[in-house]
Amino acid sequence: MKPIPLILDCDPGHDDALAMILAAHNPALKLLGITTVSGNGGITKVTLNARRVATLARINVPIAEGAGKSILGAFEEANDIHGESALDGAELPTPSMELSELHAVDLIAKLIRESSEPVTLVATGPLTNVALFLKMYPDLKSRIKEIVFMGGSASRGNRTPYAEFNIWMDPEAADVVLRSGLALTMCGLDVTHQALVTSKVFTRLQEIGTPLSETIIGLLKFFAKTYDEVFEMPDPPLHDPVAIALLIDRTVVKSRFVNVQTELNGTLTRGATVVDIHGRLGENANCNVALELDADKFWEMMLDAIKKAGVTK
Ligand code: RIB
Ligand code: CA
Repeated sequence: MKPIPLILDCDPGHDDALAMILAAHNPALKLLGITTVSGNGGITKVTLNARRVATLARINVPIAEGAGKSILGAFEEANDIHGESALDGAELPTPSMELSELHAVDLIAKLIRESSEPVTLVATGPLTNVALFLKMYPDLKSRIKEIVFMGGSASRGNRTPYAEFNIWMDPEAADVVLRSGLALTMCGLDVTHQALVTSKVFTRLQEIGTPLSETIIGLLKFFAKTYDEVFEMPDPPLHDPVAIALLIDRTVVKSRFVNVQTELNGTLTRGATVVDIHGRLGENANCNVALELDADKFWEMMLDAIKKAGVTK
């Protein structure tokens, strides 16, 4: 089976960092490039983090900086979860590779043009770059195989009672993606809250015993501490790699093809994803929504990628 070509748009971020490693170190995937978007931290922070993680985990692909604010100009950092640097908890190396001179949107276009087959876009931050790409390069839509995004929820939110952080940061961008007519898969909190970093996972990370796995332990211990403080969840959910894992093996999740829309105007609900599981709105289905995770299968993939990434010779 030929590896699936993909571009990862992210806001590293602890879980984004693990998504980078999984995307780069699984033979079923061909990571073409990484683009960054403001979310867990400001654009300068998340872009530096992406370059540091790429250096740490031997990820040799172009990295380009993207949007620093939402389409409507909003900006907020998730320091309460990811810390001041947006990736607190461990020493990270000075980047060994230069940043692309292209804007993220233009790097996405370049990589898609250069690909001999349709490319999958995976977004694990706010959807600003993806929406801007769709608007600026409509001629390249046919070269996109699928958009897989970590975001939204069929139930409750995490940034507000009803809105998940990535969608909440840029609901208009999410609306552009959901109305794009492209093949869409949503990994919302329903499924990502099943990817918990438990004590058993920490034990297996310790057994790997490489400098990389030690660094990841430090990062995830920070993530566990903040998640427990903010959400009373001692085992933090590793959201973003779920969006990558389902490309490797679609059976790692169970999904429903339903209608999903973004609430843009609700006073208390702006940024909520309205996931119409039972078709009550009578609208056409437009998105595969992942709802169940095979956690054992997910962690086998994730730990295997960490092992591969940490082999220095
Ligand atoms: O709500 C969780 C999402 O928001 C994850 O992608 C996390 O990294 C943050 O971006
Ligand atoms: Ca993220």
